[in-house]
Amino acid sequence: MDKLMIEGGIALRGHIPISGAKNAALPLLAASLIAPGEHTLVNVPRLRDIRTMQRLLEHMGAESQQDEHFHIDTSRIHTPEAPYELVKTMRASVLVLGPLVARFQHAKVSLPGGCAIGARPINLHLEGLERMGAEIQLQHGYVMAKAKRLQGTTITFDQITVTGTENLMMAASLADGVTVLENAAREPEVIALAEYLNEMGAHIRGAGTPQITIEGVPNLSPGTHTVIPDRIETGTYMIAAAITGGHLTLSPCHPEHLEAVISKLEGTGATICVNDGTLEIQAASAIRSVDVKTWPFPGFPTDMQAQFMSLMALGDGVSLITEQIFENRFMHVLELRRLGADINLDGRTAVVRGVESLSGAPVMATDLRASASLVLAGLAADGLTEIRRIYHLDRGYETIEQKLKAVGARIWRERDQD
Ligand code: EPU
Repeated sequence: MDKLMIEGGIALRGHIPISGAKNAALPLLAASLIAPGEHTLVNVPRLRDIRTMQRLLEHMGAESQQDEHFHIDTSRIHTPEAPYELVKTMRASVLVLGPLVARFQHAKVSLPGGCAIGARPINLHLEGLERMGAEIQLQHGYVMAKAKRLQGTTITFDQITVTGTENLMMAASLADGVTVLENAAREPEVIALAEYLNEMGAHIRGAGTPQITIEGVPNLSPGTHTVIPDRIETGTYMIAAAITGGHLTLSPCHPEHLEAVISKLEGTGATICVNDGTLEIQAASAIRSVDVKTWPFPGFPTDMQAQFMSLMALGDGVSLITEQIFENRFMHVLELRRLGADINLDGRTAVVRGVESLSGAPVMATDLRASASLVLAGLAADGLTEIRRIYHLDRGYETIEQKLKAVGARIWRERDQD
């Protein structure tokens, strides 16, 4: 296993190129199952989670290859099944359920187990498919789903769910009749998926609003689509500038996907300029403490909560950070404390009292965004920070150390002997 070493205290300056969004690419790859033939995806990031989805699709019989673009041929799917070995390493594997049931009328998908950030059940995905006429059984840890042809209906989500909305939108694309998804997720990744499905011949309206209407069609044909820039990667590097007293430009990006993050960062005193797909951020001379509550899009993303906490650890006062999406997404708190942060947990709120400086120490990555928060804290800390279990980071940040090195960071990877 590798570990990441960071010698902190350098103000980062320069340009960081932003990769395609992991959470947009994963549903697009799953969607390729719905239409037999060769699909081409452009700007797919080279990440562990993408490799896992690729292995999953290949297990089912798809052929794929990533050169400049990602090519995937879903003509010969022989096993509409997602095995436990793959689902347990990546929960987004469950995104294949909707497309498989829609195209093959049956699917076998392992139930994801526990997760470091919360229980993360998939009941809303399953209830939605049942409402569309699928028969769902849980057997030996697997979801067994079958349906003659899914039937359009109205589904109101009890809670906003991103992959739940995506799964049902894909399933409904081939259903008989009209499906209306109420209280749907409005994330940019949902819009991107709807656009791709529409390019394949689907009839989806309203993606990006709480009500999505899908008029089912008998079949879809393969498509080509470009993955949107990763808003969470962009936000993470914005904080890298803010926390190191630096100045970064980031592109390509869609600033409209980051309004809540931009506005909070401006609240901390950073200066941000948005110009034609480029974000420029200049750190404040002193970081102001502000409060944050996570919320589904367009609110402040839970996927930026840990990183923002690192910044607030160096704020000039007290910041209250409330996590409203996942019940256990505070695993980074104890690790940040090891770096000298003053953070106390009160239920779903972290009380962060800003300190003068952080000091490098060995820490352990626990999940993807928690790992990013440790990298950010390490970049600002005095001395050496050693981050273990960075395979979490490799799931979602393409060539993170090269990108940071190119803007001045002293960061490198070492083999972890422990
Ligand atoms: N929920 C249920 N039942 C369900 C589905 C969700 O109770 O059937 C609950 C969850 O437990 C959670 C809330 O609803 O409390 C929202 O979860 P959601 O379903 O929206 O999360 P997700 O679709 O599993 C995606 C991203 C996550 C991101 C969340 C929230 C992908 C592949 N994953 O997960 O990304 O945190 O939305 O925005 O799109 C990450 O990239 O690090 C990451 C975890």
